[in-house]
Amino acid sequence: MQFDVWTKGLATLETECIVLGIFDEGELSDEAGTLDAALDGKLGKLTGRGDFPGRSGETLLLADLEGIKAPRVLLTGLGAKKSFNRKAFRKSIAAAVTALGRTRIASAAFAVSRPSFTELDDYYFGRVVAEIVGQTQYRVNDLKTAKKPKPSALTSVLAGPVRGSGATAARRGLTHGDAIAAAAKVQRDLANLPANHCTPSYLADRARALAKSHASVKVTVLDEAGIRKEKMGCFLAVTQGSAEPPRFIVIEYKGPKAPKAPVVLVGKGITFDTGGISLKDPPSMDEMKYDMSGSAAVVASLTLAAELRLPLNVVGLIAACENMPGSKAIKPGDIVTSASGQTVEILNTDAEGRLVLCDALHYARRYEPAAIVDVATLTGACVVALGSHHAGCMSNDDALARELVDAGQRSDDRCWHLPLTEEYGEQLKSNFADFANIGGREGGAITAAAFLGKFTKGLKWAHLDVAGTAYIGGANKGSTGRPTPLLADFLIHRAGR
Ligand code: BES
Ligand code: MN
Ligand code: ZN
Repeated sequence: MQFDVWTKGLATLETECIVLGIFDEGELSDEAGTLDAALDGKLGKLTGRGDFPGRSGETLLLADLEGIKAPRVLLTGLGAKKSFNRKAFRKSIAAAVTALGRTRIASAAFAVSRPSFTELDDYYFGRVVAEIVGQTQYRVNDLKTAKKPKPSALTSVLAGPVRGSGATAARRGLTHGDAIAAAAKVQRDLANLPANHCTPSYLADRARALAKSHASVKVTVLDEAGIRKEKMGCFLAVTQGSAEPPRFIVIEYKGPKAPKAPVVLVGKGITFDTGGISLKDPPSMDEMKYDMSGSAAVVASLTLAAELRLPLNVVGLIAACENMPGSKAIKPGDIVTSASGQTVEILNTDAEGRLVLCDALHYARRYEPAAIVDVATLTGACVVALGSHHAGCMSNDDALARELVDAGQRSDDRCWHLPLTEEYGEQLKSNFADFANIGGREGGAITAAAFLGKFTKGLKWAHLDVAGTAYIGGANKGSTGRPTPLLADFLIHRAGR
Protein backbone atom coordinates (compact mmCIF):
# COMPACT_ATOMS: atom_id res chain seq x y z
CA MET A 1 0.00 0.00 0.00
CA GLN A 2 1.23 3.47 -0.88
CA PHE A 3 0.49 6.17 1.67
CA ASP A 4 0.82 9.92 1.52
CA VAL A 5 -0.87 13.02 2.92
CA TRP A 6 -3.00 15.63 1.20
CA THR A 7 -2.93 19.19 2.41
CA LYS A 8 -5.45 21.22 0.42
CA GLY A 9 -7.47 21.38 -2.80
CA LEU A 10 -9.72 18.41 -2.20
CA ALA A 11 -11.89 19.32 -5.21
CA THR A 12 -9.01 18.97 -7.67
CA LEU A 13 -7.26 16.01 -6.04
CA GLU A 14 -6.14 13.20 -8.40
CA THR A 15 -7.82 10.20 -6.82
CA GLU A 16 -10.51 7.69 -7.72
CA CYS A 17 -12.51 8.32 -4.59
CA ILE A 18 -12.83 10.91 -1.85
CA VAL A 19 -13.95 9.58 1.53
CA LEU A 20 -16.00 12.08 3.55
CA GLY A 21 -17.31 11.87 7.09
CA ILE A 22 -20.98 12.61 7.87
CA PHE A 23 -22.28 13.06 11.42
CA ASP A 24 -25.53 11.85 12.88
CA GLU A 25 -28.69 13.09 11.20
CA GLY A 26 -26.75 13.97 8.08
CA GLU A 27 -24.71 16.84 9.46
CA LEU A 28 -21.72 17.48 7.19
CA SER A 29 -18.23 17.36 8.69
CA ASP A 30 -15.91 20.32 7.97
CA GLU A 31 -14.29 18.68 4.94
CA ALA A 32 -17.63 17.52 3.57
CA GLY A 33 -18.96 21.07 3.98
CA THR A 34 -15.98 22.61 2.19
CA LEU A 35 -16.24 20.17 -0.69
CA ASP A 36 -19.99 20.70 -0.89
CA ALA A 37 -19.37 24.29 -2.02
CA ALA A 38 -17.71 22.85 -5.15
CA LEU A 39 -20.57 20.39 -5.49
CA ASP A 40 -23.23 23.08 -5.55
CA GLY A 41 -24.68 21.91 -2.26
CA LYS A 42 -25.59 18.45 -3.54
CA LEU A 43 -24.28 16.66 -0.46
CA GLY A 44 -26.19 18.87 1.94
CA LYS A 45 -29.35 18.28 -0.06
CA LEU A 46 -28.84 14.52 -0.04
CA THR A 47 -28.18 14.24 3.67
CA GLY A 48 -30.90 16.82 4.40
CA ARG A 49 -33.39 14.48 2.76
CA GLY A 50 -32.25 11.77 5.16
CA ASP A 51 -30.65 9.63 2.44
CA PHE A 52 -27.55 9.15 4.56
CA PRO A 53 -28.14 9.50 8.28
CA GLY A 54 -24.43 9.24 9.19
CA ARG A 55 -24.72 6.34 11.57
CA SER A 56 -21.39 4.96 12.72
CA GLY A 57 -20.24 2.05 10.53
CA GLU A 58 -22.50 2.89 7.55
CA THR A 59 -21.28 4.04 4.14
CA LEU A 60 -22.76 5.29 0.86
CA LEU A 61 -20.96 5.42 -2.49
CA LEU A 62 -21.82 8.30 -4.86
CA ALA A 63 -20.58 8.56 -8.45
CA ASP A 64 -19.99 11.23 -11.10
CA LEU A 65 -20.74 14.31 -9.04
CA GLU A 66 -20.12 17.47 -11.01
CA GLY A 67 -17.66 20.11 -9.82
CA ILE A 68 -14.88 17.92 -8.48
CA LYS A 69 -12.15 15.96 -10.19
CA ALA A 70 -12.62 12.65 -8.35
CA PRO A 71 -15.18 10.39 -10.04
CA ARG A 72 -16.52 9.04 -6.76
CA VAL A 73 -17.33 10.11 -3.23
CA LEU A 74 -17.76 7.66 -0.39
CA LEU A 75 -19.68 8.88 2.63
CA THR A 76 -18.83 7.26 5.93
CA GLY A 77 -20.86 7.67 9.12
CA LEU A 78 -19.24 9.35 12.12
CA GLY A 79 -22.15 8.93 14.56
CA ALA A 80 -23.12 11.65 17.04
CA LYS A 81 -20.98 14.79 16.84
CA LYS A 82 -20.80 15.38 20.57
CA SER A 83 -19.48 11.90 21.28
CA PHE A 84 -17.12 11.75 18.28
CA ASN A 85 -13.88 10.24 19.58
CA ARG A 86 -10.95 8.10 18.41
CA LYS A 87 -13.08 4.99 18.55
CA ALA A 88 -15.74 6.42 16.22
CA PHE A 89 -12.98 7.83 14.03
CA ARG A 90 -11.36 4.40 13.72
CA LYS A 91 -14.71 2.79 13.01
CA SER A 92 -15.52 5.28 10.23
CA ILE A 93 -12.19 4.61 8.49
CA ALA A 94 -12.57 0.83 8.86
CA ALA A 95 -16.10 0.95 7.40
CA ALA A 96 -14.82 2.97 4.43
CA VAL A 97 -11.96 0.53 3.80
CA THR A 98 -14.41 -2.39 3.88
CA ALA A 99 -16.74 -0.61 1.43
CA LEU A 100 -13.83 0.27 -0.89
CA GLY A 101 -12.71 -3.36 -0.75
CA ARG A 102 -15.95 -4.41 -2.41
CA THR A 103 -15.20 -2.20 -5.44
CA ARG A 104 -12.40 -1.96 -7.98
CA ILE A 105 -11.28 1.43 -6.62
CA ALA A 106 -7.48 1.49 -6.48
CA SER A 107 -6.85 4.92 -4.95
CA ALA A 108 -8.69 6.90 -2.31
CA ALA A 109 -8.22 10.15 -0.44
CA PHE A 110 -9.47 10.02 3.13
CA ALA A 111 -10.91 13.36 4.17
CA VAL A 112 -12.30 12.28 7.50
CA SER A 113 -11.14 14.81 10.05
CA ARG A 114 -9.85 13.61 13.38
CA PRO A 115 -11.90 14.18 16.54
CA SER A 116 -9.44 16.74 17.94
CA PHE A 117 -5.76 17.55 17.82
CA THR A 118 -5.37 16.65 21.48
CA GLU A 119 -6.61 13.12 20.84
CA LEU A 120 -4.65 12.61 17.61
CA ASP A 121 -1.75 14.86 16.63
CA ASP A 122 -0.42 14.73 13.06
CA TYR A 123 1.80 11.72 13.76
CA TYR A 124 -0.96 9.67 15.39
CA PHE A 125 -3.49 10.77 12.80
CA GLY A 126 -1.31 9.28 10.03
CA ARG A 127 -0.55 6.24 12.13
CA VAL A 128 -4.16 5.42 12.94
CA VAL A 129 -5.27 5.77 9.32
CA ALA A 130 -2.51 3.50 7.98
CA GLU A 131 -2.94 0.98 10.77
CA ILE A 132 -6.68 0.66 10.20
CA VAL A 133 -6.31 0.39 6.47
CA GLY A 134 -3.89 -2.49 6.99
CA GLN A 135 -5.79 -4.22 9.79
CA THR A 136 -9.12 -3.96 7.95
CA GLN A 137 -7.61 -5.54 4.84
CA TYR A 138 -6.37 -8.53 6.84
CA ARG A 139 -7.68 -11.84 5.50
CA VAL A 140 -7.44 -14.87 7.71
CA ASN A 141 -4.87 -17.43 6.58
CA ASP A 142 -7.30 -20.32 6.47
CA LEU A 143 -6.51 -23.69 4.95
CA LYS A 144 -9.72 -23.90 2.93
CA THR A 145 -9.32 -25.41 -0.53
CA ALA A 146 -12.01 -23.23 -2.13
CA LYS A 147 -10.76 -20.38 -4.33
CA LYS A 148 -9.75 -17.36 -2.26
CA PRO A 149 -11.81 -14.17 -2.72
CA LYS A 150 -10.01 -11.45 -4.68
CA PRO A 151 -7.89 -9.17 -2.52
CA SER A 152 -8.98 -5.53 -2.30
CA ALA A 153 -7.94 -3.42 -5.32
CA LEU A 154 -6.99 -0.49 -3.08
CA THR A 155 -3.26 0.23 -3.41
CA SER A 156 -2.95 3.95 -2.78
CA VAL A 157 -4.25 6.02 0.13
CA LEU A 158 -4.01 9.73 0.84
CA ALA A 159 -4.80 10.97 4.36
CA GLY A 160 -5.71 14.49 5.34
CA PRO A 161 -6.23 17.26 5.82
CA VAL A 162 -2.79 17.90 7.23
CA ARG A 163 -1.62 21.48 7.53
CA GLY A 164 1.70 22.30 5.84
CA SER A 165 4.23 21.79 8.61
CA GLY A 166 2.46 18.71 9.96
CA ALA A 167 3.06 16.73 6.78
CA THR A 168 6.39 15.28 7.91
CA ALA A 169 4.96 14.00 11.18
CA ALA A 170 1.86 12.64 9.44
CA ARG A 171 3.98 10.82 6.83
CA ARG A 172 6.03 9.30 9.60
CA GLY A 173 2.80 8.21 11.25
CA LEU A 174 1.63 6.61 8.03
CA THR A 175 4.88 4.64 7.73
CA HIS A 176 4.64 3.49 11.35
CA GLY A 177 0.95 2.59 11.08
CA ASP A 178 1.66 0.53 7.99
CA ALA A 179 4.44 -1.30 9.87
CA ILE A 180 2.18 -1.90 12.88
CA ALA A 181 -0.51 -3.46 10.69
CA ALA A 182 2.12 -5.61 8.98
CA ALA A 183 3.47 -6.72 12.36
CA ALA A 184 -0.02 -7.49 13.67
CA LYS A 185 -0.48 -9.64 10.57
CA VAL A 186 2.68 -11.56 11.48
CA GLN A 187 1.20 -12.30 14.90
CA ARG A 188 -2.25 -13.16 13.56
CA ASP A 189 -1.00 -15.48 10.83
CA LEU A 190 1.23 -17.38 13.25
CA ALA A 191 -1.43 -17.63 15.95
CA ASN A 192 -4.23 -18.66 13.61
CA LEU A 193 -2.27 -21.67 12.36
CA PRO A 194 -3.24 -24.91 14.10
CA ALA A 195 -0.78 -26.67 16.38
CA ASN A 196 0.02 -29.40 13.85
CA HIS A 197 1.33 -26.69 11.50
CA CYS A 198 2.64 -24.12 13.96
CA THR A 199 5.06 -26.27 15.96
CA PRO A 200 8.02 -25.01 18.00
CA SER A 201 10.27 -25.85 15.02
CA TYR A 202 8.00 -23.86 12.71
CA LEU A 203 8.24 -20.83 15.02
CA ALA A 204 12.02 -21.20 14.93
CA ASP A 205 11.98 -21.31 11.12
CA ARG A 206 9.91 -18.14 11.01
CA ALA A 207 12.40 -16.41 13.29
CA ARG A 208 15.28 -17.59 11.09
CA ALA A 209 13.49 -16.19 8.05
CA LEU A 210 13.42 -12.80 9.76
CA ALA A 211 17.20 -12.94 10.19
CA LYS A 212 17.57 -13.88 6.53
CA SER A 213 15.69 -10.81 5.35
CA HIS A 214 17.26 -8.33 7.82
CA ALA A 215 21.01 -7.98 8.33
CA SER A 216 20.25 -6.24 11.65
CA VAL A 217 18.70 -9.42 13.06
CA LYS A 218 20.51 -12.47 14.39
CA VAL A 219 18.70 -15.65 15.40
CA THR A 220 19.94 -18.51 17.55
CA VAL A 221 17.84 -21.60 18.19
CA LEU A 222 18.46 -24.03 21.04
CA ASP A 223 17.19 -27.58 20.66
CA GLU A 224 16.50 -29.89 23.59
CA ALA A 225 20.20 -30.54 24.21
CA GLY A 226 20.89 -26.80 24.20
CA ILE A 227 18.01 -26.18 26.58
CA ARG A 228 19.41 -28.88 28.89
CA LYS A 229 22.82 -27.15 28.82
CA GLU A 230 21.13 -23.99 30.05
CA LYS A 231 19.68 -26.09 32.91
CA MET A 232 16.14 -24.91 32.11
CA GLY A 233 14.55 -27.57 34.30
CA CYS A 234 11.11 -25.95 34.39
CA PHE A 235 10.91 -25.55 30.62
CA LEU A 236 12.11 -29.15 30.15
CA ALA A 237 9.49 -30.36 32.63
CA VAL A 238 6.69 -28.92 30.49
CA THR A 239 7.98 -30.33 27.20
CA GLN A 240 8.80 -33.80 28.51
CA GLY A 241 5.31 -35.17 27.88
CA SER A 242 5.34 -34.25 24.21
CA ALA A 243 6.71 -36.04 21.14
CA GLU A 244 7.12 -32.67 19.42
CA PRO A 245 10.63 -31.28 20.10
CA PRO A 246 10.93 -27.96 22.00
CA ARG A 247 12.81 -24.87 20.80
CA PHE A 248 14.30 -21.93 22.66
CA ILE A 249 14.49 -19.08 20.18
CA VAL A 250 16.72 -16.04 20.58
CA ILE A 251 16.13 -13.11 18.21
CA GLU A 252 18.60 -10.23 18.52
CA TYR A 253 17.95 -6.95 16.73
CA LYS A 254 20.72 -4.34 16.74
CA GLY A 255 19.50 -0.86 15.85
CA PRO A 256 21.56 2.02 14.50
CA LYS A 257 22.97 4.38 17.19
CA ALA A 258 21.23 2.36 19.86
CA PRO A 259 21.98 2.55 23.58
CA LYS A 260 23.72 -0.70 24.52
CA ALA A 261 21.30 -2.16 27.07
CA PRO A 262 18.51 -3.86 25.12
CA VAL A 263 14.81 -4.13 25.69
CA VAL A 264 14.10 -7.83 26.11
CA LEU A 265 10.72 -9.22 25.07
CA VAL A 266 9.89 -12.71 26.33
CA GLY A 267 7.07 -14.72 24.76
CA LYS A 268 5.11 -17.71 25.98
CA GLY A 269 5.25 -20.16 23.09
CA ILE A 270 3.00 -23.05 24.11
CA THR A 271 1.96 -24.23 20.64
CA PHE A 272 -0.77 -26.30 22.26
CA ASP A 273 -1.92 -26.41 25.86
CA THR A 274 -3.94 -29.51 26.77
CA GLY A 275 -3.29 -28.83 30.45
CA GLY A 276 -1.09 -31.95 30.65
CA ILE A 277 -2.06 -34.51 33.31
CA SER A 278 -4.20 -31.75 34.87
CA LEU A 279 -6.15 -32.05 31.62
CA LYS A 280 -8.44 -29.24 30.49
CA ASP A 281 -12.16 -29.71 29.77
CA PRO A 282 -12.98 -30.45 26.13
CA PRO A 283 -15.18 -27.39 25.31
CA SER A 284 -13.20 -24.98 23.12
CA MET A 285 -9.93 -26.72 23.85
CA ASP A 286 -9.00 -26.03 20.22
CA GLU A 287 -8.48 -22.40 21.27
CA MET A 288 -5.39 -23.51 23.13
CA LYS A 289 -3.57 -23.37 19.79
CA TYR A 290 -3.51 -19.64 20.60
CA ASP A 291 -1.36 -20.29 23.66
CA MET A 292 1.67 -19.18 21.63
CA SER A 293 0.21 -15.73 20.97
CA GLY A 294 2.78 -14.09 23.26
CA SER A 295 5.64 -15.56 21.25
CA ALA A 296 3.95 -14.55 18.00
CA ALA A 297 3.74 -10.98 19.32
CA VAL A 298 7.46 -11.14 20.08
CA VAL A 299 8.28 -12.23 16.51
CA ALA A 300 5.95 -9.47 15.27
CA SER A 301 7.57 -6.78 17.43
CA LEU A 302 11.06 -7.71 16.32
CA THR A 303 9.87 -7.63 12.73
CA LEU A 304 8.59 -4.11 13.32
CA ALA A 305 11.79 -2.94 15.02
CA ALA A 306 13.84 -4.23 12.08
CA GLU A 307 11.47 -2.86 9.43
CA LEU A 308 11.49 0.61 10.97
CA ARG A 309 15.22 0.41 11.85
CA LEU A 310 14.42 1.67 15.33
CA PRO A 311 17.49 3.07 17.13
CA LEU A 312 17.20 0.48 19.89
CA ASN A 313 18.59 -2.92 20.69
CA VAL A 314 15.78 -5.43 21.13
CA VAL A 315 16.08 -9.09 22.09
CA GLY A 316 13.22 -11.54 21.69
CA LEU A 317 13.25 -14.75 23.74
CA ILE A 318 10.75 -17.50 23.01
CA ALA A 319 10.28 -20.70 24.97
CA ALA A 320 8.28 -22.92 22.62
CA CYS A 321 6.86 -26.38 23.32
CA GLU A 322 3.61 -28.28 23.73
CA ASN A 323 1.93 -29.12 27.02
CA MET A 324 0.74 -32.73 26.67
CA PRO A 325 -0.33 -35.60 28.92
CA GLY A 326 1.33 -39.00 28.46
CA SER A 327 3.44 -41.55 30.25
CA LYS A 328 6.44 -39.22 30.21
CA ALA A 329 4.54 -36.13 31.27
CA ILE A 330 5.13 -34.33 34.55
CA LYS A 331 2.72 -35.25 37.35
CA PRO A 332 1.15 -33.04 40.00
CA GLY A 333 3.55 -32.93 42.92
CA ASP A 334 6.69 -33.31 40.83
CA ILE A 335 9.51 -31.01 41.91
CA VAL A 336 11.90 -29.54 39.35
CA THR A 337 14.85 -27.17 39.43
CA SER A 338 14.68 -23.97 37.38
CA ALA A 339 17.63 -22.41 35.53
CA SER A 340 17.90 -19.95 38.43
CA GLY A 341 18.49 -22.86 40.81
CA GLN A 342 15.19 -22.34 42.67
CA THR A 343 13.03 -25.45 43.05
CA VAL A 344 9.37 -25.57 42.06
CA GLU A 345 6.63 -27.96 43.11
CA ILE A 346 4.32 -28.43 40.12
CA LEU A 347 0.94 -28.77 41.81
CA ASN A 348 -0.99 -28.22 38.59
CA THR A 349 0.49 -29.15 35.22
CA ASP A 350 -1.90 -26.71 33.53
CA ALA A 351 0.01 -23.80 35.06
CA GLU A 352 2.74 -24.45 32.48
CA GLY A 353 3.17 -20.99 31.00
CA ARG A 354 4.92 -19.62 34.06
CA LEU A 355 7.23 -22.65 34.03
CA VAL A 356 8.54 -22.00 30.54
CA LEU A 357 8.65 -18.24 31.13
CA CYS A 358 10.64 -18.41 34.36
CA ASP A 359 13.58 -20.05 32.62
CA ALA A 360 13.39 -17.61 29.71
CA LEU A 361 13.32 -14.67 32.14
CA HIS A 362 16.40 -16.03 33.86
CA TYR A 363 18.15 -16.35 30.48
CA ALA A 364 17.45 -12.62 29.89
CA ARG A 365 19.78 -11.61 32.76
CA ARG A 366 22.89 -12.07 30.60
CA TYR A 367 21.82 -9.09 28.49
CA GLU A 368 21.73 -6.68 31.44
CA PRO A 369 18.54 -5.32 29.89
CA ALA A 370 17.16 -1.80 30.17
CA ALA A 371 13.75 -3.43 30.60
CA ILE A 372 12.14 -6.86 30.21
CA VAL A 373 8.55 -7.37 29.18
CA ASP A 374 7.05 -10.83 28.99
CA VAL A 375 3.90 -11.48 26.99
CA ALA A 376 1.72 -14.47 27.71
CA THR A 377 -1.77 -15.93 27.49
CA LEU A 378 -1.14 -16.86 31.09
CA THR A 379 -4.34 -17.14 33.11
CA GLY A 380 -8.07 -17.64 32.80
CA ALA A 381 -8.22 -15.52 35.96
CA CYS A 382 -7.06 -12.49 33.98
CA VAL A 383 -9.95 -13.02 31.56
CA VAL A 384 -12.34 -13.11 34.51
CA ALA A 385 -10.83 -9.93 35.95
CA LEU A 386 -10.55 -7.76 32.84
CA GLY A 387 -12.52 -9.47 30.08
CA SER A 388 -11.30 -8.90 26.55
CA HIS A 389 -10.93 -5.12 26.70
CA HIS A 390 -7.72 -4.74 28.65
CA ALA A 391 -4.70 -6.97 29.02
CA GLY A 392 -3.34 -7.30 32.55
CA CYS A 393 -0.11 -5.47 33.31
CA MET A 394 1.92 -6.39 36.38
CA SER A 395 5.39 -5.13 37.18
CA ASN A 396 8.07 -4.70 39.82
CA ASP A 397 8.62 -1.17 38.48
CA ASP A 398 5.79 1.39 38.50
CA ALA A 399 7.44 3.58 35.86
CA LEU A 400 7.68 0.65 33.43
CA ALA A 401 4.05 -0.30 34.09
CA ARG A 402 3.06 3.33 33.42
CA GLU A 403 4.99 3.25 30.14
CA LEU A 404 3.05 0.18 29.01
CA VAL A 405 -0.32 1.55 30.13
CA ASP A 406 0.41 4.77 28.20
CA ALA A 407 1.54 2.83 25.13
CA GLY A 408 -1.72 0.88 25.30
CA GLN A 409 -3.75 4.11 25.42
CA ARG A 410 -1.96 5.66 22.48
CA SER A 411 -2.25 2.54 20.35
CA ASP A 412 -5.86 1.69 21.28
CA ASP A 413 -4.56 -1.64 22.58
CA ARG A 414 -5.01 -1.07 26.26
CA CYS A 415 -3.73 -2.81 29.36
CA TRP A 416 -4.58 -2.23 33.01
CA HIS A 417 -2.08 -2.02 35.84
CA LEU A 418 -2.83 -4.64 38.52
CA PRO A 419 -1.13 -4.63 41.93
CA LEU A 420 1.79 -6.93 42.57
CA THR A 421 2.49 -6.59 46.27
CA GLU A 422 4.36 -9.24 48.25
CA GLU A 423 1.27 -10.87 49.81
CA TYR A 424 0.47 -12.49 46.47
CA GLY A 425 3.85 -14.21 46.44
CA GLU A 426 3.08 -15.71 49.84
CA GLN A 427 0.20 -17.65 48.29
CA LEU A 428 2.79 -19.77 46.44
CA LYS A 429 4.11 -21.46 49.62
CA SER A 430 5.10 -25.13 49.25
CA ASN A 431 5.92 -27.67 51.95
CA PHE A 432 8.44 -29.42 49.75
CA ALA A 433 10.08 -26.94 47.34
CA ASP A 434 11.07 -23.26 47.31
CA PHE A 435 7.56 -22.54 46.06
CA ALA A 436 4.64 -24.04 44.16
CA ASN A 437 3.55 -23.15 40.64
CA ILE A 438 0.01 -22.18 41.71
CA GLY A 439 -1.37 -19.96 44.44
CA GLY A 440 -5.04 -20.88 44.72
CA ARG A 441 -8.07 -19.35 43.02
CA GLU A 442 -7.89 -15.91 44.56
CA GLY A 443 -6.04 -13.31 42.51
CA GLY A 444 -4.97 -15.96 40.01
CA ALA A 445 -3.61 -13.53 37.43
CA ILE A 446 -1.49 -11.83 40.06
CA THR A 447 -0.18 -14.95 41.78
CA ALA A 448 0.99 -16.10 38.33
CA ALA A 449 2.86 -12.80 37.97
CA ALA A 450 4.19 -13.17 41.51
CA PHE A 451 5.64 -16.53 40.46
CA LEU A 452 7.46 -14.83 37.56
CA GLY A 453 8.57 -12.10 39.94
CA LYS A 454 10.64 -14.70 41.84
CA PHE A 455 12.87 -14.86 38.75
CA THR A 456 13.19 -11.16 37.93
CA LYS A 457 14.60 -9.76 41.18
CA GLY A 458 16.85 -6.77 40.45
CA LEU A 459 15.58 -6.41 36.89
CA LYS A 460 13.13 -3.83 35.53
CA TRP A 461 10.41 -6.23 34.50
CA ALA A 462 6.77 -6.15 33.45
CA HIS A 463 4.36 -8.91 32.57
CA LEU A 464 1.46 -8.63 30.13
CA ASP A 465 -1.26 -11.25 30.53
CA VAL A 466 -3.05 -11.28 27.18
CA ALA A 467 -5.22 -14.38 27.73
CA GLY A 468 -8.37 -12.26 27.21
CA THR A 469 -7.17 -10.00 24.40
CA ALA A 470 -4.95 -12.02 22.03
CA TYR A 471 -7.76 -13.86 20.30
CA ILE A 472 -11.52 -14.05 19.95
CA GLY A 473 -13.35 -17.32 20.53
CA GLY A 474 -16.73 -18.43 19.25
CA ALA A 475 -18.25 -17.64 15.86
CA ASN A 476 -15.67 -14.95 14.95
CA LYS A 477 -12.78 -17.06 16.13
CA GLY A 478 -9.39 -15.62 15.30
CA SER A 479 -6.27 -13.88 16.49
CA THR A 480 -6.65 -10.14 17.19
CA GLY A 481 -2.96 -9.30 16.79
CA ARG A 482 -2.89 -7.80 20.27
CA PRO A 483 -0.63 -6.75 22.04
CA THR A 484 1.54 -6.06 18.98
CA PRO A 485 0.28 -2.44 18.56
CA LEU A 486 0.95 -1.79 22.26
CA LEU A 487 4.47 -3.25 22.07
CA ALA A 488 5.11 -1.35 18.84
CA ASP A 489 4.19 1.95 20.51
CA PHE A 490 6.31 1.04 23.54
CA LEU A 491 9.36 0.40 21.34
CA ILE A 492 8.75 3.42 19.11
CA HIS A 493 8.58 5.67 22.17
CA ARG A 494 11.69 4.15 23.72
CA ALA A 495 13.39 4.87 20.40
CA GLY A 496 12.36 8.53 20.70
CA ARG A 497 9.36 8.20 18.33
N1 BES B 1 -3.10 -21.08 28.69
C1 BES B 1 -3.78 -21.10 29.92
C2 BES B 1 -4.46 -19.77 30.24
C3 BES B 1 -5.64 -19.40 29.40
C4 BES B 1 -6.91 -19.71 29.82
C5 BES B 1 -5.49 -18.70 28.24
C6 BES B 1 -8.00 -19.33 29.08
C7 BES B 1 -6.58 -18.33 27.48
C8 BES B 1 -7.84 -18.63 27.91
C9 BES B 1 -2.82 -21.40 31.05
O1 BES B 1 -1.76 -22.22 30.73
C10 BES B 1 -3.60 -22.09 32.11
O2 BES B 1 -4.06 -23.16 31.85
N2 BES B 1 -3.73 -21.47 33.27
C11 BES B 1 -4.47 -22.02 34.34
C12 BES B 1 -3.71 -21.76 35.61
C13 BES B 1 -4.29 -22.45 36.82
C14 BES B 1 -4.09 -23.93 36.69
C15 BES B 1 -3.61 -21.92 38.04
C16 BES B 1 -5.83 -21.35 34.38
O3 BES B 1 -5.91 -20.14 34.14
O4 BES B 1 -6.81 -22.04 34.59
MN1 MN C 1 -2.27 -24.28 30.93
ZN1 ZN D 1 -1.18 -22.21 28.76
